[in-house]
Amino acid sequence: MSTGRSEKEQLRVHIRWMIRRDMPEVLQTEQQSFGFAWTEEDFLRCLRQRNCIGMVAEHDHRIIGFMIYELHKSKLRVLNFATIPDMRRQGVGAQMIRHAEAWLCALGVRKVQLLIRESNIGAAGFYDRQGYERSSVIVMQRWLLPPHSSEN
Ligand SMILES: CC(C)(COP(=O)(O)OP(=O)(O)OC[C@H]1O[C@@H](n2cnc3c(N)ncnc32)[C@H](O)[C@@H]1OP(=O)(O)O)[C@@H](O)C(=O)NCCC(=O)NCCS
Repeated sequence: MSTGRSEKEQLRVHIRWMIRRDMPEVLQTEQQSFGFAWTEEDFLRCLRQRNCIGMVAEHDHRIIGFMIYELHKSKLRVLNFATIPDMRRQGVGAQMIRHAEAWLCALGVRKVQLLIRESNIGAAGFYDRQGYERSSVIVMQRWLLPPHSSEN
């Protein structure tokens, strides 16, 4: 599926598995991207799971994006995904998602799923552009303690 850009216009990145040494740069991107950021312990706990996989996008010896996903028998769930703020809208996210999709297709995984906040207009625009459809699931929740300002 087309991302609407030619390969030439995209910032070319090398996509590879995440390793422990990437963590400081990944954490920095995480903190710049989310009000309610994962901690290093959150990343490590997640990546210790057998079906949890981390990928990074590297450009000029710098980690400029990452993606964490959970692999199930017939679907993949994106748990965390970001491009560094000053490198956005240059095709990095699209290359990461395409890379994961190509690999998954080869494994016979049929579906990619993720949750985004309704207020995250940027991510919604990104996934719309990548051909993702909104599902009809309604998330029910009840606050047991008052929410932080970054939560809604
Ligand atoms: C969502 C995110 C990963 C996209 O990464 P990116 O590297 O900027 O994405 P791309 O450059 O590949 O975007 C490809 C296309 O998606 C769409 N898109 C990307 N960001 C968008 C935005 N903020 N608003 C609307 N559309 C957007 C555009 O159509 C874009 O193509 P264009 O720039 O030619 O118009 C990035 O915005 C990000 O890190 N956001 C903060 C963290 C987050 O919300 N993560 C997702 C939660 S799962």
